[in-house]
Amino acid sequence: MSRSCHVALIGQKFMGRAHSNAYRQAPVFFDLPMRPVLHSIAARNAEELAAFATQWGYPNHTTRWRDFAKDEAIDLVDVATPNDLHAEPSIAMLEAGKHVACEKPLARTLDEARTMRDAAKKSRRRTFVWFNYRRCPAVAFAYRLVREGRLGDIRHVRATYLQSWGGPDTPLLWRFKKKYAGSGAHGDLNAHIVDMARFLTGDEITEVHGAVSRTFVKERAIPGPVKRGAKKTGKSDVDDALLFLASFRGGAVASFEATRVAPGHLNANTMELNGTKGSLRFDFEDMDVLQFHDATVPDREQGWKRIICTSAGNHPYAEAWWPDAHGLGYEHGFTNMVADMMRVLGGEAPEVPLPDFADAYETQRVLEAAVISARERTAIRMREVK
Ligand SMILES: NC(=O)c1ccc[n+]([C@@H]2O[C@H](COP(=O)([O-])OP(=O)(O)OC[C@H]3O[C@@H](n4cnc5c(N)ncnc54)[C@H](O)[C@@H]3O)[C@@H](O)[C@H]2O)c1
Repeated sequence: MSRSCHVALIGQKFMGRAHSNAYRQAPVFFDLPMRPVLHSIAARNAEELAAFATQWGYPNHTTRWRDFAKDEAIDLVDVATPNDLHAEPSIAMLEAGKHVACEKPLARTLDEARTMRDAAKKSRRRTFVWFNYRRCPAVAFAYRLVREGRLGDIRHVRATYLQSWGGPDTPLLWRFKKKYAGSGAHGDLNAHIVDMARFLTGDEITEVHGAVSRTFVKERAIPGPVKRGAKKTGKSDVDDALLFLASFRGGAVASFEATRVAPGHLNANTMELNGTKGSLRFDFEDMDVLQFHDATVPDREQGWKRIICTSAGNHPYAEAWWPDAHGLGYEHGFTNMVADMMRVLGGEAPEVPLPDFADAYETQRVLEAAVISARERTAIRMREVK
């Protein structure tokens, strides 16, 4: 009989739905030592909130997330709010003795991320960060192949995260304001691929050699009804695209590219690794597939293999899901992550390693180095970024 983990979630829009779904699905599909139970939901819009609570099965809802701290029934608080509201609730809930799961990027700035990492260390509670792409079966399989030495020494990491929704017709959402988001495509998208590169290689970046950041659309329409006489547009002060080059301790060279203005690319979260014994390629737009080139087979047999990661041999979560070749989708990454969170909280090992605040802080250091590099037009050694 599994124990219960009572979950309170802050934020009820995009990620609020993704996380709520994951908490509901995980105990149905997986056999877990800890069972997530939806307890409370908090967000700003009281009207939407009541409907959301009913639809998703939260017995309690509130516009005051701070109330979660004194509710002893709550075990885990999940922070799925814009980036300016990651540090404050995470720290408050850790101080109140709750486990905390927080969305990415961990914070707007490295200073903010550091306060979160330190609060986590002090609290001795569990922390998790929603780098959900680690749990796509093809990425988890790539992790295994690298650990088994199938790539040999890694020479290249080539990562892109390309989207196209951020053109001039997109209004001035919180994602385009530094005070809410911290950065634009960089914190939003590079955060994922830096995490994935660190995760897959098991290696750390030692230097950012150069970065370029561009804000192509500087003025955007203010969303929603605008009062008569008020300004109809406002300034976007975050990057629309940020690219950088880096080196890993183990010798690999790396390129990272994030953009929201690349027509034709909707959610192209891609990663290619080239090693002395072979190469791997992943593209989220074809998410159940891992491409593998084994350079150790005879020359005449060499070529890219398209592996559909749906069977127990290459899909670490396969037993919980469908028969072979019945693929998974976006939401399953979140559900697989909840399953692993519940395993950890129940004293078991996760199927795939989970990022905590200390781990996400290391990703944030790389993001910070790229920001400094772009601003100062210079290389930045990671040991200078604390
Ligand atoms: N892991 C991923 O792949 C992924 C994908 C999208 C977004 N995100 C991250 O998730 C976070 C949320 O993004 P989103 O797209 O869900 O945003 P969103 O704008 O769709 O939703 C934000 C939610 O936060 C709530 N909120 C804002 N201020 C609040 C306050 N003061 N008190 C209570 N609730 C408040 C809003 O009411 C809303 O429900 C961001 O950090 C974003 O970077 C992660």
